[in-house]
Amino acid sequence: MSLDAGALFAGCEPERYSLHTRYLNEQLVRVLKAIGFDVGFCRGEGPYLFDRKGTRYLDLMSGWGVFALGRNHPAVRDALKSVLDGNLPNLVHMDVSPLAGLLAKRLLQHVPYLEKVYFSNSGSEAVETALKFARAATGRAGIVYCSHAFHGLSYGALSIIGDETFRTGFAPFLADCVEVPFNDLHALDRALATRQVGAFVVEPIQGKGVHVAADGYLQDALTLCRKYGTLFIADEIQTGLGRTGRFLAVEHWGVEPDIVLLAKALSGGHIPVGAVLTRKTIFDKVFSSMERAMAHGSTFGKNDLAMAAGLATLDVLKHERVIENAARTGDRLFAAFTKMSHQHELIKAVRGKGLLIGIEFGPQRSLKLRATWAALHALNSELFCQTIIIPLFKDHKILSQVAGHGINTIKIQPALTITDADCEWVERSFDQVILEAHRGPATALTLGKTLIEHAIRPRATA
Ligand SMILES: Cc1ncc(COP(=O)(O)O)c(C=O)c1O
Repeated sequence: MSLDAGALFAGCEPERYSLHTRYLNEQLVRVLKAIGFDVGFCRGEGPYLFDRKGTRYLDLMSGWGVFALGRNHPAVRDALKSVLDGNLPNLVHMDVSPLAGLLAKRLLQHVPYLEKVYFSNSGSEAVETALKFARAATGRAGIVYCSHAFHGLSYGALSIIGDETFRTGFAPFLADCVEVPFNDLHALDRALATRQVGAFVVEPIQGKGVHVAADGYLQDALTLCRKYGTLFIADEIQTGLGRTGRFLAVEHWGVEPDIVLLAKALSGGHIPVGAVLTRKTIFDKVFSSMERAMAHGSTFGKNDLAMAAGLATLDVLKHERVIENAARTGDRLFAAFTKMSHQHELIKAVRGKGLLIGIEFGPQRSLKLRATWAALHALNSELFCQTIIIPLFKDHKILSQVAGHGINTIKIQPALTITDADCEWVERSFDQVILEAHRGPATALTLGKTLIEHAIRPRATA
């Protein structure tokens, strides 16, 4: 008897929120209900989602960046089916898979200055691996990371992120991790000068708040790393594989890291995967002898489904000129938001590259609007963005997100395959919603208060 997942999904669909409330994360269900996002998505295709009524939404989150090719890309699906239909000898462990060898070779063609690949099962696991590799290769314990960084939520990764909300309740963290302000070379110099630091870990564009490395920062940071014998690790888990209009974001600044981390989009969103691309000298310090052939690894690493999905993803990126499309549509959206920022007082800044764009909101000059801003902030520091995100969803069928805790930036991170018609959809919708926010501060305030009331209502009635 075979299981029909589609039929099961349809059968359980009406119960999805009660199932999650009872058996999974109840608080998440409360959030979805409070903001009216409980529309029950039933289908995904390319950059679009369809709710239970068949209404089409443009998804600007793309599963936190995993669906760079859009949802259910036929080439990735076919690759996965072919693995299953091929009866491949997956995960033998006392053998090696040709697919993993091929994917490693193809990835390294994009970063010819690196020579080896380690495959993990997620972004956090790639970060953990890089921290271990850096310590093994340098013999130094210290790790330097940037304020506002996000590198994942496993213990090593959590030890090097600049977000207290994620860390609260989970201390103590990994020792010898030092935070420096992003884009501050003097602070980095001081931290590395101890010569106790094995690695400097940095996102070229920080996902939280969408902060872009200042011109010259990454190049000079690399020079400092070389001077003090520290490895430079670029976390491209979010920015890599075309997201910023180049294969890697570091290419915008001509920087060649010692280690590059990839995950998210690598498998077209279907199978969890991560990759640590590194210099041979580093790799050889970890896997230094036959006794140490398994010094680091994990049960599902290099599995054939993930490897095939990775190979299909690289093919699609190339043959469908996806990265070129990300650069072009990203430039178009960036220009449109910049233009809007001149028309709407509420937009304080527009940042990003390619299809990773942050729109930061700030208090307005006019007294009436300033008062609304202050009132919303008094209720909750990240509430203002919800007064944009909710009407975008309800009235314009656009799914978007705040770019982190306690900040006023909305992050745009759609599939890299979006069209000009999708860009028009985004531009028109944001323009109208922001215009409304200017016109109707009272509406924003009412919405804010309703949200707070929902959030504090007792569980049973949420
Ligand atoms: C830059 C960066 N590094 C690491 C991670 C962690 O990846 P994962 O969620 O796959 O563990 C993320 C996830 O959002 C990320 O954006």
